[in-house]
Amino acid sequence: MSDASVITAAPAGMAGADPVAAASGRALAERVEQLAQRYPDDVGRVIGLLNDVQDECGYLPEEALRAIADLCDVSFEELVASARFFKTLSTEPVGKVVIEVCDGTACHTQGAVRLAQTMADKLGIEVGQTTPDGLFTLRLVHCVGACSVAPVAVVAGAAYGRVKPSDADGVIEHAHAALEEVDRRGE
Ligand code: FES
Repeated sequence: MSDASVITAAPAGMAGADPVAAASGRALAERVEQLAQRYPDDVGRVIGLLNDVQDECGYLPEEALRAIADLCDVSFEELVASARFFKTLSTEPVGKVVIEVCDGTACHTQGAVRLAQTMADKLGIEVGQTTPDGLFTLRLVHCVGACSVAPVAVVAGAAYGRVKPSDADGVIEHAHAALEEVDRRGE
């Protein structure tokens, strides 16, 4: 990349940082119950739980969605429809390496959507999708806490600041390097 720079370790939600994804449906339901303790009031519980599970699993497993629906007394179908409405949530499993483009306010105003679209075009997918080979997922996420160097992209644990659409190839190169590391570790 040109003047884009690595700025920090990644926030939650990366492939490999996944304490829940391999759990059974029952364990997922128990985890959802634990997370629900963060939301003693009904207000914000549904979206809070969706975001929490997304952060922990990297996507929203069906078992977790069913647990949230039961807990919040909403229909599973309504919950799935709601989850699909938000671009930062995914009901599909993620690829081996997740590429995230921050779409918080600072990054959005600095062209995050155009950046994400450029990367999507190069990967041959839409934003929010996983490549057909299951290797890379590209998605928009909430603020990752590095607004001063917006726009920010996060690749498998490393965040890059001041990333321009012309840096898209460089970001994807980092994703390929991350994939080699994942494969080397046998994940
Ligand atoms: S808005 Fe992108 S890092 Fe805060």
